[in-house]
Amino acid sequence: MRSVVIKGVKALEVETREKLLPKEGYVLIEVLKAGICGSDIHYWDLGDPKGLVMGHEFCGIVLDNGGCERFNVGDRVTALPISPCMKCDECKKSDIQICAETWTYAVGLSLDNPGAFSERVLVREDMVRLLPDSINDKVGAMIEPAAVSYRAVNLSDVNEGDKVLVVGGGIIGLLCAMFAKSRGAGYVALTETNESRGEKAFKLGVCDEWFNALDENLNEKVMSKTGNGFDVVFDCCGNSPALSSAIMFTKPDGNLILVGISMGLVNIPLVAGIMKEINIKGTIGYSAHEFDEVIRLASTNEINLEKFVDDVVSLEEVQEAFERLTSGNDSAVKILVDPKKYKILNLE
Ligand SMILES: NC(=O)c1ccc[n+]([C@@H]2O[C@H](COP(=O)([O-])OP(=O)(O)OC[C@H]3O[C@@H](n4cnc5c(N)ncnc54)[C@H](O)[C@@H]3O)[C@@H](O)[C@H]2O)c1
Ligand SMILES: [Zn+2]
Ligand SMILES: [Zn+2]
Repeated sequence: MRSVVIKGVKALEVETREKLLPKEGYVLIEVLKAGICGSDIHYWDLGDPKGLVMGHEFCGIVLDNGGCERFNVGDRVTALPISPCMKCDECKKSDIQICAETWTYAVGLSLDNPGAFSERVLVREDMVRLLPDSINDKVGAMIEPAAVSYRAVNLSDVNEGDKVLVVGGGIIGLLCAMFAKSRGAGYVALTETNESRGEKAFKLGVCDEWFNALDENLNEKVMSKTGNGFDVVFDCCGNSPALSSAIMFTKPDGNLILVGISMGLVNIPLVAGIMKEINIKGTIGYSAHEFDEVIRLASTNEINLEKFVDDVVSLEEVQEAFERLTSGNDSAVKILVDPKKYKILNLE
């Protein structure tokens, strides 16, 4: 079985590993498409943990149902890649996203559970979801990141006519902008350091306007749109300059949603947030209900997720795809991996 493995700082390699085999209670899935996530980029940057096979956004075909009769061989499925314990107080309240074990054994995020940049994955049967025929393979791999942004917007309390700012136009930021608009936001702005991504956000129609985060007059330009700041701000970056700007642009008593993740400490202008009594809320992953709701929204075409997919690459091209996504000047926001692509090329 071919898998893409972290070998060191910004270094991935295709390795041949032992084939994953059927396991009781787990669904064995042949991967069709798997998305590269901003969180994967953090691991890539650090080169740690070595040996990790990433890929937690995926869809595929059931090879073995592990004894679970909800699935048949050949079904097309996606899955919540997480590992909630289902016993703790959070799990009992259906808040599986904040269970202490949820990310410990997550598929593609832990060494114990290799991810979908590989020919096969094994997933706990209760986390697997059938994909309706109206959802194609590309969209099937987009359900997971869309569920992240769907939850962020649910928690943000965006109301009809609100002024919303999204800091960072990666896929998570674009999807937050899209969901904020669909909840009735009156004006959605986006800031980006990468000009091509900013332009793209505007062209995709998810924001009304975009601003270059490196512009020395950013503050005046952005604030002139709102007077005293935005009702709701989403930080979809997690770095110091981004989070600082998110705090500066939130209006008094406004809501700031922390979506972007940093593995290290982040400096922020604390006093600016305190003096405005802003409401800061973190968000992680999604509940099972939110994940299922995104499948429904995609299946009825209430949301279009396919338009965000820029490219589909083979396992051998994953290293190059990470370089492209981090170049700072490429417009691509979502690149999917297709482990079968290599075989097709080989037949030619
Ligand atoms: N909370 C969660 O559940 C969750 C889930 C998935 C991803 N994430 C995190 O969300 C973040 C975004 O994910 P992504 O896949 O979109 O990543 P990404 O790296 O593609 O997007 C981040 C974007 O921010 C831009 N940026 C950097 N500094 C900026 C600044 N100062 N101002 C404005 N824009 C700036 C970058 O150019 C980039 O386009 C990542 O940190 C990721 O780890 C969180
Ligand atoms: Zn992700
Ligand atoms: Zn739990």
